Amino acid sequence: MAESTHDHLFKLLIIGDSGVGKSSILLRFCDDEFNEKQASTIGVDFKTKFMQVRGKKLKLALWDTAGQERFRTLTSSYYRGAQGIILVYDCSQRSTFEHVKFWQDEVRKYSTNQDAILMLVANKVDLPDQQVTREEGEEFAFANSMMFIETSAKTRQGIKQAFEEVVFKIL
Ligand code: GTP
Ligand code: MG
Repeated sequence: MAESTHDHLFKLLIIGDSGVGKSSILLRFCDDEFNEKQASTIGVDFKTKFMQVRGKKLKLALWDTAGQERFRTLTSSYYRGAQGIILVYDCSQRSTFEHVKFWQDEVRKYSTNQDAILMLVANKVDLPDQQVTREEGEEFAFANSMMFIETSAKTRQGIKQAFEEVVFKIL
């Protein structure tokens, strides 16, 4: 019964340093909520979301990984088979942008899907003190064949669009 309620099932994974806003992005996208005191993810969380795209009903399986180093071994086992990977940095924390290369290497090591769509997300664009420019993010994404978008889980900017663009690309 449940299987017949959607036309496609997509597996998406969200990765990036601790505190960049991965869980907040998913909370905004799935429940349209924001929590200033969002708790750091322990291991891996899972959410689902239905989406209507080009007359098709899609079910998104969204895997939210912990950014903390102590969960790396566990989280790396969730890369397998992901069709879309959302790599997030915090544009108000330069170090999280510098670690994007690290996360890209994790994808190369653990993602079994050569055709996985990669989206680089610059989150927290609402904050006044920005340490990474849009151009830097765009350039990195372009040079590494990733899509790019600026978001704010707080103000909703770019959140829905980020998922729509990834899904369009997979379809
Ligand atoms: P881990 O689970 O530890 O890997 O972190 P995470 O990437 O899931 O970050 P989380 O969603 O827990 O957000 C960390 C903090 O940043 C929380 O206090 C959020 O409220 C805040 N935050 C997340 N997104 C935004 C945003 O777009 N703007 C602002 N101003 N704050 C945000
Ligand atoms: Mg989290």
